[in-house]
Amino acid sequence: MKTRTVAAGDPVAVSLAVDGLARGEPVALPTETVYGLAADATRPDAVLKIFEAKERPFFDPLIVHLPSREWLEKVASIPDESRPLVEALIEKFWPGPLTLILRRRALVPDVVTGGLETVAVRMSAHPIFQKVITQFGRPLAAPSANRFGRISPTCAQHVHAELNTRIPLIVDAGATEHGLESTIVKIVAGQIQILRSGPITPEQLAGFGEITFATASEKPNAPGQLASHYAPRTPLRLTEKSWPSGQRVGLLAWREACRQAGFAAIEVLSERGDLREAAATLFAKLRQLDEAGLDLIIAEPVPETGLGLAIMDRLKKAATDETRI
Ligand code: TXA
Ligand code: MG
Repeated sequence: MKTRTVAAGDPVAVSLAVDGLARGEPVALPTETVYGLAADATRPDAVLKIFEAKERPFFDPLIVHLPSREWLEKVASIPDESRPLVEALIEKFWPGPLTLILRRRALVPDVVTGGLETVAVRMSAHPIFQKVITQFGRPLAAPSANRFGRISPTCAQHVHAELNTRIPLIVDAGATEHGLESTIVKIVAGQIQILRSGPITPEQLAGFGEITFATASEKPNAPGQLASHYAPRTPLRLTEKSWPSGQRVGLLAWREACRQAGFAAIEVLSERGDLREAAATLFAKLRQLDEAGLDLIIAEPVPETGLGLAIMDRLKKAATDETRI
């Protein structure tokens, strides 16, 4: 299959995407977090093509993206006791990088939820995504547009590198704003349980209720929730002090790189130590180091406050063996 990349500014971009979706094809679209591989969430045949292109296991459920708030209660039900909290979160953070886990309704096929009785829902704030989904008029299932287990794409070139010849269309709107996948939360006993940390930080959520972090056993048995994910091909370690001589080692530095000596390649997440910039550039820099023919990547930890929590979550999942936490 030939993969076409169309610039978001091209006058035919939106209609090409909408026509592809209407034919039941998967289309790679930018969101404010990472690029997603979208398909009609109500059509199992279309959703299956996402799993095929990504080589994603069927037990890993997808996020359903909504065209509007009105669609929420067509795909999910909100229990009376959590309605005020759910509505407050939606009011504050939608459209945006917050995904809610709710009870699913029958409109959502099994293949989307991996057979779970819950469904993950969000509304993207990206103007191109919004144009496409509004014109399409139906919810879109969209995981990150990478092959299974690999680093999420934050620009169209990454999507091309991952899925070229596997999908018909990529809409290119440049680099994504946040660079990390959405924060996933579930309301459990009136508390906000964080299943995946992301651009909406625990500090931002704290104003809405008590925050808890899901333990491994509280997460679905889905690969995105497991310890190893988002992995570069090159082994990555956190805070490694020494390595065998003769190895080509790259450094993913948090801020201005003072430990220059001995590294074959260095990428700095944010010279000025800005967590937002670090999050936005993390996956692109990981990819660059992964492509530099290194034996090992050493990643410097970032402070685990605010967005730093989500950055460290991704670094730990990318890390190999004993430095993985
Ligand atoms: O920012 C994002 O969320 C991006 C963009 C494209 O929207 N999407 C994304 O999708 O990151 P994906 O498939 O790469 O990650 C979705 C995560 C998976 O870890 C999956 O296990 C979890 O959401 N998930 C989906 N449905 C769930 C459910 N019913 N209960 C718990 N976790 C769920
Ligand atoms: Mg993913």
